[in-house]
Amino acid sequence: MSEKHLAVVVLAAGEGTRMHSATPKVMHEISGLPMLHHTLATASNLNASYVIPVIRHEKEKLEPYIHAFFPKAHISHQDELPGTGRAVECGLSVLPDDFNGAVVVTSADVPLLDVATIESMIDVHLSSGAGATLLTAVFDDATGYGRIVRGSRNEFVAIVEHRDASLEELAISEVNAGVYVFDYQLLKEALAKVGTSNAASEKYLTDVATEIKKLGKEVIALPVSDNWLVAGVNNRVQLQQVGAELNRRICEGWMLAGVTILDPQTTFIDITAVLAEDVTILPGTHLKGITRIGSGSTIGPEVMLHDSQVGKDVSIVKSHVNGAVIEDEATVGPFSYIRPGTHLGAGGKIGTFVETKNAVIGAGSKIPHLSYVGDATIGEHSNIGAGTIFANYDGVNKHHTTVGSHVRSGSHNVFVAPVAIADGAYTAAGTVVRKDVAAGDLAMSLAPQKNLAGWVLAQRAGTSSAEAAKKAKE
Ligand code: UD1
Ligand code: CA
Repeated sequence: MSEKHLAVVVLAAGEGTRMHSATPKVMHEISGLPMLHHTLATASNLNASYVIPVIRHEKEKLEPYIHAFFPKAHISHQDELPGTGRAVECGLSVLPDDFNGAVVVTSADVPLLDVATIESMIDVHLSSGAGATLLTAVFDDATGYGRIVRGSRNEFVAIVEHRDASLEELAISEVNAGVYVFDYQLLKEALAKVGTSNAASEKYLTDVATEIKKLGKEVIALPVSDNWLVAGVNNRVQLQQVGAELNRRICEGWMLAGVTILDPQTTFIDITAVLAEDVTILPGTHLKGITRIGSGSTIGPEVMLHDSQVGKDVSIVKSHVNGAVIEDEATVGPFSYIRPGTHLGAGGKIGTFVETKNAVIGAGSKIPHLSYVGDATIGEHSNIGAGTIFANYDGVNKHHTTVGSHVRSGSHNVFVAPVAIADGAYTAAGTVVRKDVAAGDLAMSLAPQKNLAGWVLAQRAGTSSAEAAKKAKE
């Protein structure tokens, strides 16, 4: 079909009261993106000339998001008249007078619906010449959904909303999925006839189907093959269920593409993450945002990796990594906190109980134990001793520390920024580096050790320490 003849209306104007949230329902996320994003991405991939999100509640939060991520969308604002039918009517007002063709309607709270399903609906719709084609599903628990009433020849008769249904109708397990293809002219005509005499006093889109039948056109109710595709999210239980299913599908997709995932139930991979072949993901791992992992790398157990780029053959264990670049064959963890601006060079190591931020660490350099490295540049093949603090903050401003290549710093150092330690320099244990250290020098803080002879025997007589000392001296 030529793209000129298709418009997609995405309903996102509802209040979402059942979420009990300050965040608009359709901005709640699954697999790292708001439901609104998933549904607008699908709508945008249908090759339609108009993608029309209809918004109202919390529009000041939705509108900038849509402008940022879907600049081609034609936003429509629903007025104060409530209901999905009114929402579609408002959506259609965006179309030019001479528009003609098919209108697809989807909901921003049905996030797993895919392009292929909508395209096959459009095919059925166009080839049959029906006035409307809608998707149905059979649910064990149909609570909340509109029920599909069929006639003696199994033909579509009507959709009855849960709140308006009789006991007999409530027993129907086939439900309206909330996904439709309409003929544009018929849709307009039928919408004009739909009233608000129902339990919610709303203008229901579902009543359009009955009106189209009254206009003498066929309505096709098409059962969906995969119920998850049409699962709606009205509350947080459904958000969790739909989110878990999407995550399961994402994990399955990566496994089929060559990634080993030990436990998909405790592995959470955003739809925006990209993994190479032969990556291994161990339990309790979250891969969030724009994250990439190179082949042969092992991530986990219990790693949070957010907006980070990881090279090949890297190992990251029990750590939190955000906004970092970790190059090939580097190792991180266990128990480290890698903050934005960290760049760990190839073969480098950030070990145990280390926090880094704005730190460029050269190839082969190591920070093995108990350190804070902030606002720093470290050259290649240097070793930062256990318990070293890069003191980057003077209480008002942050300052930079530069450490050269092949530096060996002693344990329990403080580098008071701004300060520089040149190539091949050493620092002794316990040094507070306040002055630059030249290449090849040894820096040490001169606070000579003093031993007070016999102090324990005199001042702590009778203690186990004094007894032990006495015995050692016998
Ligand atoms: C709707 C259908 C129901 C179907 C179910 C499938 C109607 C009357 N009912 O019920 O038959 O089984 O979806 O998931 O259509 N919205 C607006 N403006 C409004 C009201 C809602 O844009 O005034 C939007 C919502 O943001 C949401 C969508 O329309 O994205 C559906 O609204 P919702 O209130 O969730 O309808 P359901 O009760 O789920
Ligand atoms: Ca819904």
